[in-house]
Amino acid sequence: MKIIKLNLGKRSYNIIVGKNIIKSLGSYVYRLNLGSDAYIITNKSVMDKYGMAVYRALKQSGFNVRFKLVADTEESKSIETASSVTEDIGRFDKKKKIFIVALGGGVIGDLAGFIASIYKRGIPYIQIPTTLLAQVDSGIGGKTAVDLRQGKNLVGAFYQPRLVFSDVAVLKTLSPRQLQSGLAEVIKYGIIKDTRLFEYIERKHQDILGLKESALEFIVGRSSVIKAKVVERDEKEEKGIRTILNFGHTIGHAIETTCGYRGYTHGEAVALGMLAASEVSKSLKFIGVNTLNRIEDIIRIVGLPTRIKRVSLDGIIEAHYRDKKFIGAKNRFVLIKGIGRAVVEENIPLKIIRSALEERSGRHALK
Ligand SMILES: NC(=O)c1ccc[n+]([C@@H]2O[C@H](COP(=O)([O-])OP(=O)(O)OC[C@H]3O[C@@H](n4cnc5c(N)ncnc54)[C@H](O)[C@@H]3O)[C@@H](O)[C@H]2O)c1
Repeated sequence: MKIIKLNLGKRSYNIIVGKNIIKSLGSYVYRLNLGSDAYIITNKSVMDKYGMAVYRALKQSGFNVRFKLVADTEESKSIETASSVTEDIGRFDKKKKIFIVALGGGVIGDLAGFIASIYKRGIPYIQIPTTLLAQVDSGIGGKTAVDLRQGKNLVGAFYQPRLVFSDVAVLKTLSPRQLQSGLAEVIKYGIIKDTRLFEYIERKHQDILGLKESALEFIVGRSSVIKAKVVERDEKEEKGIRTILNFGHTIGHAIETTCGYRGYTHGEAVALGMLAASEVSKSLKFIGVNTLNRIEDIIRIVGLPTRIKRVSLDGIIEAHYRDKKFIGAKNRFVLIKGIGRAVVEENIPLKIIRSALEERSGRHALK
């Protein structure tokens, strides 16, 4: 088991990473003195698999426990769901001290964190992330949000959890596609910050895909350390440091938008985005062809796509200019100068982006 401290002064918290640790959850939560009543937000699928274990662990330490189920879809990240869950909390919360537990993937984590940030101007919450993506990324760092019809994550707050509790044993029930999707973020950490992690995935990809707990614990632990360090230095994405976490996400988001969030999962789109950013890095002579090939190989070997298919390249280019992280009309890309070395560059000429996308789609003339 690994305990990673995320240092943010009074808002510091621990990230616990281990295997089969749910039974010890109660004692960790008890020490935090968050209150007597645990309000667990989850969905039916996660509840059926892990609800009872979490219930027992919290009951054993004397907590009152109430579950709230929301639908298992991105649509649960809405103002409407947040509003109805908040009303329910109001009915439950008579006089005792209540805290929220997010039990699920990124959808549950973002929604529960958002609700915790607004109810009574903020109550404590803890994250029990159950997807790989949530354990290595969305569960850590306090970005909470719901979506609007106009776009994803448009309403939210930076609001840090009091504990992140990642039991890698729960990843065994993920579908292979969900696991691969989360692996895209792990590969991202290796590329931007951690050569050792990158090499570990190269060597141990079979153990990871075979859900060997020691391998999962290593990649989740290592990724959590990187995310924690970046968040510590730039909690609210104001200093440009947190920006490097967007490696692969500029084009990745543009692909997701262009195909209407269907066809590619987030991780698959990010994998293609990382390859496009690596192509741009190669065009600018930041990296050589060997580094690009290593990145392509690792992405292919874990089963993620390496070619953009059935998406309009013009659509992707248009969508990338609407990225909310761009400054004015300037585009901004996270590029690499080698494995483990990310840099942020602005104003990349359209010609270079176009040719990177053409390379990645196997097409050489845009329609
Ligand atoms: N806050 C952040 O910093 C941040 C970062 C990245 C992504 N996100 C958000 O995260 C969301 C995506 O998260 P996600 O990929 O975890 O998707 P998700 O939460 O929709 O979970 C994916 C599916 O896996 C199921 N599931 C969860 N745990 C499981 C388990 N242990 N076994 C079997 N099935 C399980 C869920 O019920 C769901 O059907 C998006 O809304 C995205 O915007 C937030």
